[in-house]
Amino acid sequence: MREPETAALQCDADGRMRHLLDINGLSREQLDALLQRAQAFAESDADMRAVLAGIAVCTLFFEPSTRTRLSFQRAAQRLGADVLGFEAATSSTTKGETSLDTLKNIEAMGVRGFVVRAREDGAVAALAARVGEGTALVNAGDGRSAHPTQGLLDMLTLRQAKGADFSPLKVAIIGDIRHSRVARSDLHALRLLGAGEIRACGPASLLPNDDTLAGCIVTADADAAVEGADAVMLLRLQRERMEDGLVPSLEGYHRDYGLDVARLRRAAPDAVVLHPGPMNRGVEISDEVADGPQSLVLRQVANGVAVRMAVLEALLAPVSSPTRS
Ligand code: CP
Repeated sequence: MREPETAALQCDADGRMRHLLDINGLSREQLDALLQRAQAFAESDADMRAVLAGIAVCTLFFEPSTRTRLSFQRAAQRLGADVLGFEAATSSTTKGETSLDTLKNIEAMGVRGFVVRAREDGAVAALAARVGEGTALVNAGDGRSAHPTQGLLDMLTLRQAKGADFSPLKVAIIGDIRHSRVARSDLHALRLLGAGEIRACGPASLLPNDDTLAGCIVTADADAAVEGADAVMLLRLQRERMEDGLVPSLEGYHRDYGLDVARLRRAAPDAVVLHPGPMNRGVEISDEVADGPQSLVLRQVANGVAVRMAVLEALLAPVSSPTRS
């Protein structure tokens, strides 16, 4: 979280979450509570449609998405919300309407929850600063900055695989960290949960040159990053965000940084592999690893629904609801 005022926007004076903008700014207790609630949702197929009955939620995506948008819609439906989809390509933004005017107009229709993906860093926080008292925003990814629900679902997936104590874990994050909002949210969450060792790996051209990697072991050697790791978190090569020339060739990238079966053998025998999707098969991950027994990629997607249910409930369920603490 870059601006101090973003932290103030996210939680009110009593520490209650008003919006979810960034994992940076959440307390360990808030993170644990969301993960525990998500785990309960993941284990239950009970009818939860009373939780958000009568509450309208809009998925307001100004960038493409498959997993995040649809799993938020699924999560909102499971909680009984009315769900409105928004397609930027067929909206009046194509006539020049701003994202703020778009949101304010939908808010005026009685929508209380907005799940927003934006191209610009800080754009979701900027919108959150302009909405009414009872309206909640969730950052579904802004620029390179944050993707908090991806961070949460990655942590839930790791907890299920490795237990709640992250202190013995060696976690390798490999790939295009410079352009990755997923990496930034994962790093904040791993630090908050006390991960024992975080290794950050990528070519120098794809590593951030700010304090993003503070406290991490940073290496350009993917074999060294994977050696003995308990979890390997791969990142998509963000080709749409990259200036030309940062990666000389996709084949060379796969050779030097891609995770194939041979490289994965260097990890702990029970190591798990995560990827936020969409995957560039044959670039950051081989087919054999993506579809192999150590891959948790589809578990991550399933957990995304549970995590998003927990977030929507925390932000939007009536305070008097028995499900909201
Ligand atoms: N992981 C992720 O954010 O995927 P989508 O872009 O498909 O939502």
